[in-house]
Formats: sequence, C-alpha cells, structure tokens
Amino acid sequence: MKPILAASILAADFGQLAHDVEEVLQAGADWIHVDVMDGHFVPNLSMGPSIVSALRRRFNCVLDVHLMVERPEQWVESFARAGASRITVHVEATPHLHRAISLIRDLGLPAGVALNPATGWRDIRYVHHLVDLVLVMTVNPGFGGQAFLPEMTEKVRDLRAWLDGVGGAPTHVEVDGGVNEDTIGELARAGADVFVGGSSIFGAERVEAAVERLRQRASRTV
Ligand code: DX5
Ligand code: ZN
Repeated sequence: MKPILAASILAADFGQLAHDVEEVLQAGADWIHVDVMDGHFVPNLSMGPSIVSALRRRFNCVLDVHLMVERPEQWVESFARAGASRITVHVEATPHLHRAISLIRDLGLPAGVALNPATGWRDIRYVHHLVDLVLVMTVNPGFGGQAFLPEMTEKVRDLRAWLDGVGGAPTHVEVDGGVNEDTIGELARAGADVFVGGSSIFGAERVEAAVERLRQRASRTV
C-alpha cells in the first residue's frame, strides 16, 4: 500500500489553525489527523466536533478523527455530522466496541480501531472485518511530542502478518506517536502504511521538505 501521511493538528498553532492546515496540505500531507481527548480516557483535553466542522467548511481533505474518549459510541454521531471522513475508536474505551464500530459504519463512514501500547493486537480478532484501519499507538495517548516506544514495531509486524494471513479487504495499519524521520522507516518495513506526524510535520522549520523526507523514508522498503 502507498504510504499515507496524516498530519496531526494537535501540534498546529491553534491561533492560526486554518493557515497551518493549508500549509501542510500544500506540502503534500494526505490526511489531517484530529485528536479528540476527554480528560478521562486520557489525562488531557483537546478539541470537539466544532473544530471538525470548522475544518470541513474550509477543506475538502480527509479528516481522520481519532477519538481518545470514554464511551466513544456517545460521540460518533456528532463527529460524523460535523464532517469527519473516518472515525477511529479505542479498544480500551468502551465495553461496547462492536456497537461503537457498527454505529460509525451505519453513519456511512469507514471505521478504525486503536490499540494502546499495552494492548495486544489479538483484541481486534472479532471486529477486524468491520474496520478498514487498525491504529497502533506508538506512545501512550494524550500528548504530542513524546518519544516513540520501540517495542511497538514488533506489534506492527505481528499485526500486519496476522491481517495478511486472514485475508479479506486490505486493512490500513496506522501508527501514531513519535513518528519522525528516525522511526518511520522501521515502521514502514514492519508493515505500517498510515503515518501520523504531529511535531515532525507541524513543528518542522520547512514543512514541505519534512513531508518529502518522511514520504521518502516510508517508501523505502529495505
Ligand atoms: C497522541 C496523539 C497523537 C499526537 C502525535 O495522543 O494521538 O496523534 O498528536 O504527536 P507526535 O507526532 O508529536 O508524537
Ligand atoms: Zn492521534
């Protein structure tokens, strides 16, 4: 699968969000990644559906909504109505994962399922056929700018091998947290194909050059 670069607006300057998003899209980012935090599932607060609708009014791009909230089934409809292109929910955030994923699909959107660092990939066994993306957190969720957890590479490799083995429609493996020029290559070789970059994209001095370098390193398979 061709690498997809998803720029995480958590690292943008919220005072000039539209400008920053325009800049990363011009620079070649494929998706805009929207991190939603509720202060319960993760120890931080971020943004809600109004940011998604504000972005949707201006931009025609893929808005990749990552819900780091408890009981995401209560929120998916608001985000779908706000203009999310796709919604990802955490395995750990609800006892009703199947229901949450089904709701996203019923709203007409592709669904993703996310795994915290300590959660094994086997937890998606009975829902993988309902999602087109599995997000492997490569840091503990809640904050941008953290260091990549190297042991997550093995999880990506095992997950990719298992997904390839079960067949069915192709499933994206997205990695999120500490993805930068030094880590993206090993994640790509392990089988990830969607790469979230916060600080490595919005924090770069020259955004276009940063996107180009990330893409090059993600495309190199040896
Ligand atoms: C963390 C978020 C990430 C975060 C990544 O909880 O899910 O999307 O913005 O930031 P970086 O790329 O700076 O680690
Ligand atoms: Zn995220």
